[in-house]
Amino acid sequence: MVNAEKFEGNKIAVLGCGKIGEALVRGMLESGFAARRQIHVSARRAPRAEWLSETFGVAATLDNADAARGAEVVVLALKPSLVLPVVSEVAEALAPGVLLVSVAASVTTAQIERQAGAGSAVVRAMPNTPALIGQGMTALASGTRVSPAQLQLARALFCSVGRAVVVEERHLDAVTGLSASGPAFIYMVIESLAEGGVRVGLPRDLALELAAQTVVGAGGMVLATGEHPAKLKDAVTTPAGCTVDGILELEAGGLRVALIKAVSRAAERAGRLADAAHR
Ligand SMILES: NC(=O)c1ccc[n+]([C@@H]2O[C@H](COP(=O)([O-])OP(=O)(O)OC[C@H]3O[C@@H](n4cnc5c(N)ncnc54)[C@H](OP(=O)(O)O)[C@@H]3O)[C@@H](O)[C@H]2O)c1
Repeated sequence: MVNAEKFEGNKIAVLGCGKIGEALVRGMLESGFAARRQIHVSARRAPRAEWLSETFGVAATLDNADAARGAEVVVLALKPSLVLPVVSEVAEALAPGVLLVSVAASVTTAQIERQAGAGSAVVRAMPNTPALIGQGMTALASGTRVSPAQLQLARALFCSVGRAVVVEERHLDAVTGLSASGPAFIYMVIESLAEGGVRVGLPRDLALELAAQTVVGAGGMVLATGEHPAKLKDAVTTPAGCTVDGILELEAGGLRVALIKAVSRAAERAGRLADAAHR
């Protein structure tokens, strides 16, 4: 059933179809990764299930086991505290060889494997909110029973909402601190750049647009050119020009140290949440 780029099975279930689940359903449909008839979702409330069914034309139910029954892939898009209870709830409905894909922070592949029982393969994914607009960054880690083809399929699923990379599970707390928390850090950078624009006389809306697209463009340059950001920065910084004066202010303000510490603290916190979840 496994094709690297497209889901060719009969059924892919998304349990707990909230913000991330909805982004995945939209991405899978828009990218052609899966068709409506292949996607089944579950929600906790009837109005939400009806809305998902009407909006995306997918089968939607309040019964997790119904959604999961016989599916080749089951995405667990639930809050971390609900992942293990819901896996236990649906365990009897899981098809042999099912691939479970969890997006929940802190819940390990080993915990999910234990709950799901032998025969299930588990991939853990850490996406971020830009997945809601198809610009996500997801890191994926395999449990012990995942075949290369299943991992490739999981990666293709998340490529439908942005970029996706495979990492070792021990790196997922670090990923949480960088790319999952990172959008919040960058929103603060955008807000501050725009505030600077306002300070030098730009209308607020214009300042915000300039700041946001500057961040999009700079990120795009790093990815498209493959150049080290220091080299790209040097290319913008003409001798005795204005940019170098701005850079001096950023260094004096400790921008680099602040961002390094922000990622480190968020990653440490992700690790502590994981430890607490395992106790
Ligand atoms: N949002 C992010 O940026 C992000 C990034 C990385 C990872 N994650 C992870 O993704 C997971 C989902 O996050 P989210 O932001 O998408 O949360 P969310 O919007 O709250 O989605 C969870 C959904 O599960 C539903 N639900 C609750 N109990 C259920 C049950 N027993 N059976 C079936 N569905 C149930 C909720 O319905 P109600 O609203 O009716 O309770 C809600 O629609 C979390 O584990 C989070 O750690 C999120």
